[in-house]
Amino acid sequence: MKKLLLSATAALTLFSCQKEETTNTTVDTTTHRGCASHAVLERQMQEDPTRASRMQDIEKFTKNAIQNGRLLADGTIEIPVVFNVLYRTTSENTSLTQLQSQIDVLNKDFSATNSDYNTSNNPYASVRSGNVGIKFVLDQVIRKSTTKTSWGTADAMKKSTQGGINPTSPTTKLNIWVCTIGGGILGYAQFPGGSSATDGVVLDSKYTGNTGTATYPFNLGRTATHEVGHWMNLRHIWGDATCGSDLVSDTPVHNAANSGVPAVGHRSTCTGTPLEMYMNYMDYTDDRGMYMFSVGQKSRMKAVFAVGGSRASFR
Ligand code: ARG
Ligand code: ZN
Ligand code: CA
Repeated sequence: MKKLLLSATAALTLFSCQKEETTNTTVDTTTHRGCASHAVLERQMQEDPTRASRMQDIEKFTKNAIQNGRLLADGTIEIPVVFNVLYRTTSENTSLTQLQSQIDVLNKDFSATNSDYNTSNNPYASVRSGNVGIKFVLDQVIRKSTTKTSWGTADAMKKSTQGGINPTSPTTKLNIWVCTIGGGILGYAQFPGGSSATDGVVLDSKYTGNTGTATYPFNLGRTATHEVGHWMNLRHIWGDATCGSDLVSDTPVHNAANSGVPAVGHRSTCTGTPLEMYMNYMDYTDDRGMYMFSVGQKSRMKAVFAVGGSRASFR
């Protein structure tokens, strides 16, 4: 993909140079082809002292994109995942197998290859997202023992000064902290646009992956699917308000969060009384009751990674 773009740019430059040839009198075109691009750049740099530093920024970005580029040929973005495990008890010291199971669930859910994707009686089958085009790769696991029994939701687990673990390369890697949160919280995420020092997702170890200590009814790894959805700018499907908006046009208005596994045909009492999309990952249903993102949600997630997007540094 990147190579294609580069050669397209090169072709364009060539083309414009050939056109310039006829009008450029400063270059001797009798002995060799002339191109004024570099001369023009030098003139601009003389005229504008900030021009050179912008050129340097572009060079820095280009070098990084080539070295760390994670945009695959088919447009899939590959995201390295760093697990930061904080444990007091041995059961909190989540096994590599359990962490890998979480990566596997994320890859299935984000590529619509989850085994329950084709659950029958889904009134929203036509707006199901197919492959979102985001792939997760286990990058590293960092472990730290602690005396803390629970970590809460004030980001202490992300700060070594508070006994936690600082994130690793948060602008190019998804950091997931695995610890005991407490207070009945399964997990939480930081939306795009926050400080990189606290960027990432937190999962309670009992709701991580689908094996080991994973605990029913949140034992299928969907807490991470939900939280990574937030990390990619998805809102709760009920819009965090009665009949609120999730900023996605193909998801219906919900009264409030659903829990358990709602009955097929469950409707909202909001305007139009639509069937609720309780099988969406961004609702609060049990893990076995959620199995889809919508097409509109996919668009929001991909926009975050687009050139100029808030997480473009992951490309
Ligand atoms: N309650 C959590 C949140 O706030 C996660 C909900 C995840 N749901 C699930 N079935 N695992 O964002
Ligand atoms: Zn949530
Ligand atoms: Ca909506």
